[in-house]
Amino acid sequence: MVIKKLTLRNFRNYEEETFAFSEGLNVLTGKNAQGKTNCAEAVFYLCTGTPLRIRSERQLIRRGAPSAYLLGEADTRFGAVTLEAEIYENKRELRVNGSKVARVVDFVGNMNSVFFSPGELRLVQDGPDERRRFLNLSISQTSRAYCSALQRFQKILDQRNNLLKGKDVPLIMETLPVWDEQFSLYAARIVYFRREFLRRLSPLAADAHAYLTDGGEALTLAQEGEYPDDEGGIREKLLHELRRAYERDVRLGFTTVGPHRDDIKICIDGADARGYASQGQARTAALALKLAEVEIFKELSQEAPVLILDDVMSELDLARRKKLVGRVQGVQCILTCTHLERVLYGRESNRMKIREGKLIP
Ligand SMILES: Nc1ncnc2c1ncn2[C@@H]1O[C@H](COP(=O)(O)OP(=O)(O)O)[C@@H](O)[C@H]1O
Ligand SMILES: [Mg+2]
Repeated sequence: MVIKKLTLRNFRNYEEETFAFSEGLNVLTGKNAQGKTNCAEAVFYLCTGTPLRIRSERQLIRRGAPSAYLLGEADTRFGAVTLEAEIYENKRELRVNGSKVARVVDFVGNMNSVFFSPGELRLVQDGPDERRRFLNLSISQTSRAYCSALQRFQKILDQRNNLLKGKDVPLIMETLPVWDEQFSLYAARIVYFRREFLRRLSPLAADAHAYLTDGGEALTLAQEGEYPDDEGGIREKLLHELRRAYERDVRLGFTTVGPHRDDIKICIDGADARGYASQGQARTAALALKLAEVEIFKELSQEAPVLILDDVMSELDLARRKKLVGRVQGVQCILTCTHLERVLYGRESNRMKIREGKLIP
């Protein structure tokens, strides 16, 4: 797919601006704090229905404005698609091709993006949160079933945690099994989908990693934790583990079992990368994961996503920069940087310069 146009109104530091993107490489330059990441975030938001790093969408609204508005127009294999989001203090309205959609699942996945920023370079070394987020965002964009299971799971998890914070222990003990019927249903689906996704992603990541290291090291990915093969079996196992954890959950006041606690196991040459990888190795592995994400999107949705490279060039050494640029030919890229990188010299690109939330003509 190709995003052609993006209009922002009262979004972050943009009052009103329209970006025209081309196929291939789009380069956004500008000094710090001018609005490069904000533009990248807007594209990301239209693809995922989620802000980049924050939970409260309120921060997306330009300070002092009542609401923010985003409009994206893309060409996809299903034809032209228009996505709109109007974000208010306490609610939002999402539209696809002019029609309001009630559920996020109907919005997400119309446009696909792979987002890469210095934060993602820490995917390997940081805590499991980042890796779960990676899986959730990635799988949600390619599977409505996953996206919908995840939404429901989050709701039930919040409610279950609220229950666990209560004081009436006998009542809690009585109520938990009722919650866990639903909890385990969606949890099992999430575990199942993640495993299938990782099974497909793993060889792609190994391939990208071999490319980045000239075949020097082998990368493997797997889901942590042993689960039965089928969804029903996974659910049984989760139910059993949930029951065993009742007392602990009540004592701690939150749910200690479930896919919100799972992690991905990333190994380089058989050794767990989370603990042992050097900074450089961890970055290369993270980059491989992201390049693999581009490939799996191509496989699963039969078209390339838009690849957003936010400020990553300066974080990578020259060899990796060259490899990255070489690998993403044929994929629409939105790349932000403070100055035009040497590796981009001579490459045809659509260049835009941003200052204080405005495109400079
Ligand atoms: N809701 C908002 N309203 C107004 N300005 C905002 C809002 N959110 C962020 N900003 C401003 O946007 C700027 C950062 O933009 P960003 O896109 O991150 O910069 P960069 O070009 O370095 O990537 C900061 O000056 C910040 O104050
Ligand atoms: Mg930035």
